[in-house]
Amino acid sequence: MIISSIVAMGLNRVIGKNNKMMWHIPSEYDFFQKCLGNHYYLIGRKNYEGSLNNHDSGRAIVLSRDKSYVCNSPCFQSIDEAIDFAKLKGEEELFVLGGEEIYRLAMGYIDRLYLSIVDFSEEGDSYFPSHSDYNWKELNSFSEEVGPNTPRRWEFKLLQKI
Ligand SMILES: NC(=O)c1ccc[n+]([C@@H]2O[C@H](COP(=O)([O-])OP(=O)(O)OC[C@H]3O[C@@H](n4cnc5c(N)ncnc54)[C@H](OP(=O)(O)O)[C@@H]3O)[C@@H](O)[C@H]2O)c1
Repeated sequence: MIISSIVAMGLNRVIGKNNKMMWHIPSEYDFFQKCLGNHYYLIGRKNYEGSLNNHDSGRAIVLSRDKSYVCNSPCFQSIDEAIDFAKLKGEEELFVLGGEEIYRLAMGYIDRLYLSIVDFSEEGDSYFPSHSDYNWKELNSFSEEVGPNTPRRWEFKLLQKI
């Protein structure tokens, strides 16, 4: 099973503030949904709670250290258990959906990074951790200029860990 992180970060690596995203870019969001498809995804308890309305697919796997935490999705206290669950379900590519703590935790596990870099540099309270401790090969890249569905320019890179 491939494990992939998928993230949209600002030029300063910011990913959120007050448990929310800081931009809405329809073209980037549509692309994210297309990449995610119907795959299982691993999500931190805070990000899950901050985006509760978006987990109807039944594909969320939540991480919380709280053994008594109850939600409408399978929940695990360790990333290894969560990964095993996705494997047992026959998943071929598990997506790590963040937030910051979960991206940090998963960095050593991931094979691929779906990285959108948004033309945005305000400060927030959550940042995507450095991925420069690993070597990466770029498999794909493109950029989206400002337009009707793109209020901010963004560029995408698909990176494979080598
Ligand atoms: N721009 C993007 O692409 C993007 C994507 C995702 C999220 N975000 C942003 O990221 C922010 C949220 O990030 P965050 O770092 O605050 O929270 P988070 O990573 O979503 O969740 C943190 C929680 O995960 C659980 N956890 C962390 N490490 C764990 C471990 N080793 N084992 C088991 N459970 C563990 C803990 O839950 P308990 O407290 O229950 O123990 C912890 O409080 C939001 O602003 C959100 O909008 C942005």
